[in-house]
Amino acid sequence: MKQLKYLLLVITLPFYTLIAKADEGMWLPLLLEKMNEKQMKSLGMKISAKDIYNINKGSLKDAIVSFGGFCTGEVISDKGLVLTNHHCGFSAIQSHSSLEHNYIRDGFWAKNNNEELQNKGLFVTFIVRIEDVSKQALAGVLSSMSESERQSMIDKNMTALRKDAKKESYQDAFVRAFFEGNQYYLFVTETYKDVRLVGAPPSAIGNFGTDTDNWTWPRHTGDFSMFRIYAGKDNKPADYSPDNVPYIPKKSLSISLDGVAPNDFTMVFGFPGRTTEYLPAAAVAQIKNVNDPAKIEIRDKALAIMNKFMRENEQIKIMYASKYASVENSYKKWKGEVLGLNKSNAVEKKLNIEKEFLKRVNTNHVWTERYSTVLSALDENYKAIENFGRARDFFNETMSRIESIAIFNQLNRLKTAKEKNGAAGLKETASKVYDVLVGLYKDFSPALDKQLFISLMDHFYKDQPASFIAPYLKDRMQEVNNDINALANKVYDNETLIQNSKTVLDLLQNKPDELVNIISNHPTMQLISEINNHYANTVTKNITPIQENINLLQRTYMQAQMDVFKEKTFYPDANSTLRVTYGKADGFKPRDGVEYLYYTYLDGVMEKYIPGDYEFDVPEKLRTLYRNKDYGQYGIKGKMPVCFIAQNHTTGGNSGSPALDAWGNLVGLNFDRAWEGTMSDINYDPSICRNIMVDIRYVLFIVDKYAGADRLIKEMKLLHPKKK
Ligand code: ARG
Ligand code: GLU
Repeated sequence: MKQLKYLLLVITLPFYTLIAKADEGMWLPLLLEKMNEKQMKSLGMKISAKDIYNINKGSLKDAIVSFGGFCTGEVISDKGLVLTNHHCGFSAIQSHSSLEHNYIRDGFWAKNNNEELQNKGLFVTFIVRIEDVSKQALAGVLSSMSESERQSMIDKNMTALRKDAKKESYQDAFVRAFFEGNQYYLFVTETYKDVRLVGAPPSAIGNFGTDTDNWTWPRHTGDFSMFRIYAGKDNKPADYSPDNVPYIPKKSLSISLDGVAPNDFTMVFGFPGRTTEYLPAAAVAQIKNVNDPAKIEIRDKALAIMNKFMRENEQIKIMYASKYASVENSYKKWKGEVLGLNKSNAVEKKLNIEKEFLKRVNTNHVWTERYSTVLSALDENYKAIENFGRARDFFNETMSRIESIAIFNQLNRLKTAKEKNGAAGLKETASKVYDVLVGLYKDFSPALDKQLFISLMDHFYKDQPASFIAPYLKDRMQEVNNDINALANKVYDNETLIQNSKTVLDLLQNKPDELVNIISNHPTMQLISEINNHYANTVTKNITPIQENINLLQRTYMQAQMDVFKEKTFYPDANSTLRVTYGKADGFKPRDGVEYLYYTYLDGVMEKYIPGDYEFDVPEKLRTLYRNKDYGQYGIKGKMPVCFIAQNHTTGGNSGSPALDAWGNLVGLNFDRAWEGTMSDINYDPSICRNIMVDIRYVLFIVDKYAGADRLIKEMKLLHPKKK
């Protein structure tokens, strides 16, 4: 049906193909009934939009959580059991790991509720209600206002909306901008802060194939872990307490054991982080030619160093595993994005859209007046921002990879606090800084960090135009005859301080004046401050006004596209709010002569198996289960399904999102996208964009047959919806 509509439009309205793409879109749950239900049903959905989002009674949305604000999770039992990805639970798994209890390597399974492990700082958030508050948020905004005046008016309105929102005392609310600030929605939320680790497979299953396989299809990763929400005795949110009890949810997902056939309807429900689908060609070209390459270049160097240390030292491997995975993950995505933007001719496509846009604008007086210069103005501003944007990316990437800089920045916070708020301010900040530093040092190797400093600072110094290099850095480099190794020796060895946490933490015990004195006079502190200040004065100061122009123009261009392309149904860019995306399960053709099937099986794990390998080892128990085809109720025709792909439009933050079937049963767990389509954040193309999910039967097989955690299986509702 969708295909047919698409085809007809291609025939009758050739331009339509440029902007309306099948299966694209991350939709707001409260608008599904109005905007998507018909199409979803035509694609095979058997439930109604109200079953997905309903504020009057339990609906699917009540089983979905934002997991820690960076991933998605779903409730899969009426005892608050939460399923998410292994890589989403990874920093929790890592924090409980040591050389003696290496849960990263060996996996972890709590045998009963008492063994479930507390995770400081981890929370899950439910969405209670969503409301369109555009009118109220934009009240009092005038077109004559500057961007900052406009923003402060909106901020004021949003604060009032948040405060006045109807909600219970244990609930929160926030307002978020949509469509570049043309619309606003209010979210009432409920956050649980006692979330405990229940189980995780060994990394050889949960992260099988690691970085080589990351962002690629065909895939064989069992990327899942399990947590449990604990609540107060009244089932309401409560801080951690041993007396808390498993949370009883309004809704938990039932699980289908029937799998997904080709062309089956699937939908993914979760919290996609950020997309930019409505950019002009100039912006897309800049991301592809300037920003992504700058970041890739620096991470290339950083990853090589981290990788070398991790392979040589098991302790460092544990300490840096989580950091490495996240640095590598975006790095590889950007590489795929550049390839995909080139291959899909994204810039050309955008230029064609712009041509059509201007043609239509010129046919209408009101549009001509409002919109005829928006694209040329965007062009100009993107040109103006280019060099500063590259400098920003270079600076951020360099400075955030070198962790000693983070240590110095923390110490600098103390100085600023003292200057701003005196001794009292310093004292308050000191306790926060203390916690951050303890956390930082827990996973910090000065030897590794020194190599990062040498490599990245040297690169920064040589690459960046002279005007972006702080004179003080130049002086310090000249002092050592431009030998970065010598400067690193000073920073890491002679000027000590950061070598061990004790020196740094002891420093915090000094009297305020002394402390500030030490910080101000420390030569490396001075170096870092000068670098920061120079950056603020030469880059930030220039970027800010251009970025303000761009924001305004982008908002205008967004509204313009919605006015001018009336035939298109627009969805808002991802902004970490709850969305539904849907599309059929389907393989694809990545390149000439190659076709990808939509499913993988355990056979593929065994094909990739390399005994003792860093990435492709397979645990003995899994090999035995495979040899005996001991799949229990989870196998199908003597085979064990592992992963599958579909045309759901997802992005970072959708990790851990449930993949649901036509009836809303859980069939898979979203965890990645296929390499050829990683540019979907900027230019979705249904022919090559696929999301990757682990089959729920593989998850259950690992929990039950591999880990023997059948106490968890007993909590779940397993169904055969197709055999009804
Ligand atoms: N690419 C997936 C995502 O963006 C999975 C990342 C975790 N796996 C890894 N090998 N780093 O989060
Ligand atoms: N792995 C991603 C995440 O952490 C999801 C994959 C994607 O970016 O689509 O959210």
